[in-house]
Amino acid sequence: MKKWTKDSWRAYPAKHIPEYPNTTELAKVESNLSKYPPIVFAGEARELKRNLAKVVDRKAFLLQGGDCAESFKDFNADYIRDSFKVLLQMSVILTAAGNLPVVKVGRMAGQFAKPRSAPTEVIDGIELDSYKGDIINGMGFTAEDRTPDPDRMIRAYTQAAASLNLLRAFAKGGFSDLNKVHSWNLGFVQDSAQGEKYKMIADKISDTLGFMEAIGISSKTSRRLRNVDFYTSHEALLLPYEEALTRVDSTTGETYNTAAHMVWIGDRTRQPDGAHVEFCRGIQNPIGIKCGPSLSTDDLKKLLDILNPENEAGRITLICRFGAEEVNSGLPKLLKPFQNSGHNLVWSCDPMHGNTVKASSGYKTRAFENVLKEVNSFFDIHHDMGMYPGAVHLEMTGQNVTECIGGAQAIKDADLSARYHTHCDPRLNASQAIELAFLISDKLKESENPDNQKITIAS
Ligand code: PEP
Ligand code: CO
Repeated sequence: MKKWTKDSWRAYPAKHIPEYPNTTELAKVESNLSKYPPIVFAGEARELKRNLAKVVDRKAFLLQGGDCAESFKDFNADYIRDSFKVLLQMSVILTAAGNLPVVKVGRMAGQFAKPRSAPTEVIDGIELDSYKGDIINGMGFTAEDRTPDPDRMIRAYTQAAASLNLLRAFAKGGFSDLNKVHSWNLGFVQDSAQGEKYKMIADKISDTLGFMEAIGISSKTSRRLRNVDFYTSHEALLLPYEEALTRVDSTTGETYNTAAHMVWIGDRTRQPDGAHVEFCRGIQNPIGIKCGPSLSTDDLKKLLDILNPENEAGRITLICRFGAEEVNSGLPKLLKPFQNSGHNLVWSCDPMHGNTVKASSGYKTRAFENVLKEVNSFFDIHHDMGMYPGAVHLEMTGQNVTECIGGAQAIKDADLSARYHTHCDPRLNASQAIELAFLISDKLKESENPDNQKITIAS
């Protein structure tokens, strides 16, 4: 294997990285960013890897979720707080069901760059670059907006750093104290069936906390009750940005991408001989690999040899995204060679990216029903094969958006236009995300007690 350096990816074919017309400005931005402070610390990424190793060991569950694409426009404290609240709620629901700790990872504080199916878009005979995420260009259909602008990387860095600063405060500054479990219920979810069900779990937790306090254990005395560990992740797509934030950790001499605790390689950029894999090979962060129907067993084995030659547990999370239609035929084939192979892997279900459709209204959407179907099959297939379905990866938000069809609110095609705010793919709203968490919790209970009847999740 050739020597790795943080810029060795530049000698490999790189898909989905834009051509910047102003290369002088690009070089200046890269140089400035490479001197900026890290956004995360190497020690935190190592801690996440240890937590993911527990998932491999069937002793924890991974919940990864957040926006498809974060945007410069929707950047404020309430927005971040609401996404964080839903993730906390979901993890309470999952912990209560599986009696397992939930490792919490946001698609937050850096999820800005998007691979697109077409590099350009034509409207009324005018051809411009497609929108590729706020870190690259703007959404407006004007030459000015759509021209890739390197200065956007500085803004993305600033937003990621400020977001993580707030998330750290939420995680460690009292907001996540288990005594506040009731207050995480978002206003518009509270009165729904989901809100009620959540309240029942929260009531039980409050009772238990009351008992524990009586015997001298409280959030004043126990850090575990007062704080949560929360990690960030994004797709390592825009390599000039990722490279600029890649640093050698002074305590270990190892190299980490300090733009996020965990990064993943997208379904469109996971070529074993491509630039994105080359870049990820040399950083020590936990790495996700998106696995869609086009991934062959040979390529997956190659990827694991390249990215995890030591078979380190917690290093690799395989994020499967087949779609409700293809999961039953595709997933068993992908899993089979690893059934007893000794590979240390976290198997995660992304029930979003294989289920995107265009509604007759013209909006890109996903049917909640298909999301559930895919999660259901993902769990059943793992159980049947004696493997551990240890994670989910979701596009979701704390806002009351109308982007995915279905769920308890029965969102219909005609409702999509009411609050369709995503900058890229349709997300589950808080109510749908919590509904999904309850359904996953049923599947986790089933795993705890395999003699139980199979539970089919349906809304
Ligand atoms: C994504 O996670 O937003 C994405 C683009 O996914 P995939 O690479 O699986 O298509
Ligand atoms: Co997406």
